[in-house]
Amino acid sequence: MFDIHAPDHMQVWVEQTDAIRAKGGVGWSDANGGYWVVVNYSDAVEAAKNWQVFSARHDPTGADPRARGISIPPYEFPLILSESDPPRQQKLRLLEIPFFTPSKIKAQVPVVQANVDRCLDAMVGRAEIDLFRDYAMPLVSLTSMALVGIDIAQWQDYTLAAHRGGPGSSLDISQDTERVHAMLLDMARDRRANPRGDITSALVTGDVMGEKLRDEEVVSMLSALVLGGFDTTSSHITNALIWLSENRACHADLASDDALAANAVHEFQRMWPPSLGGARNLVADAVLGGQPMKDGDRVFLSWAAANRDPEIFPDPHTVRLDRPNAKDNLTFGMGVHRCLGMDLARLMGRLAIQTLLRRHPNFRVLLERCVPYRSKGLVAGWSAVPTVLG
Ligand code: HEM
Repeated sequence: MFDIHAPDHMQVWVEQTDAIRAKGGVGWSDANGGYWVVVNYSDAVEAAKNWQVFSARHDPTGADPRARGISIPPYEFPLILSESDPPRQQKLRLLEIPFFTPSKIKAQVPVVQANVDRCLDAMVGRAEIDLFRDYAMPLVSLTSMALVGIDIAQWQDYTLAAHRGGPGSSLDISQDTERVHAMLLDMARDRRANPRGDITSALVTGDVMGEKLRDEEVVSMLSALVLGGFDTTSSHITNALIWLSENRACHADLASDDALAANAVHEFQRMWPPSLGGARNLVADAVLGGQPMKDGDRVFLSWAAANRDPEIFPDPHTVRLDRPNAKDNLTFGMGVHRCLGMDLARLMGRLAIQTLLRRHPNFRVLLERCVPYRSKGLVAGWSAVPTVLG
């Protein structure tokens, strides 16, 4: 049975979703109270765009039992941006949009490059490093924390908490999230007293439908930026580098050709989407992919399976770095909730890959010692990627 939390989910999801596709594209899972599984690209796009019927809203009080947000099972801490519908969602999003415009992302190029170089400089002279812990994780942390307004000196605290303490840690996910939330709350309170030009200040001073955000709402918005960006972007970078370690013929071209490298990033994200999918909640009867669904049903939109739809991406299970439509992947979702940080994530991916290939063309990942995330669930990735730089 398809179950995103099954221990072998990462090994079986391609086979299972291909089987659902062969039978029409919409399957059913009995896991976690039951949900429809949507695997075809066109159906996932249709549902993601139709927020009026496929709602993302989360009401943790249970007053509206349909409002269970975007996670299966529902998150303990609702994400107020990802888990609300327009018009409120659009007003919340407006507070953050100014920090993700094309000119703001362009201004991040030297910042991200400096962070990439800083992480690589710190590895000089080491016989063995870990591409996740020493490279992808600090790079993503340094970049997204500076953007949000977190003091860089605290980056290790945030990063360790965001990554669930790492392998062997005694911390569990809810304890980690609570630690990060306590730090974010302190920052929100500080910016109420001393606003600056950062996202946190925009959130505490901004107006949403005539009201200021409460502290816990600011923390929820910040948490989505900090926790949402960490695991996903670092997972993307490590997945790409693991593949590149085994596929070396393209290295010189990728290192020197920015356009090819940018397309390769789209293709790596299509093949290994860090967020495998997202849930929606029906607030009216509907038909999707020919399948009748009832008001109150849940659906899981599999971005990962949609990315392997052969109607859109021929030969979908093969990496093709020059795939003409690689950027049409659904890795960042679709519709009103499409990822705000996607261009920043793509930039971090491209610079991390190109710079490593230029500075350490002989790098090799020690595949037999790589360790996947303890918690697979909705985010797929690695917690240990031992590597020799050469
Ligand atoms: C490879 C890296 C990333 C991936 C795969 C990813 C994936 C996603 C996906 C799939 C969604 C939509 C969820 C849904 O519709 O149910 C989303 C939303 C979001 N992402 Fe990302 N993300 C990444 C990096 C980032 C970064 C770096 C940031 C910020 C610095 C970020 C901020 C957000 C925010 C704020 C939303 C909510 C948008 C809304 O609901 O209006 N993400 N992300």
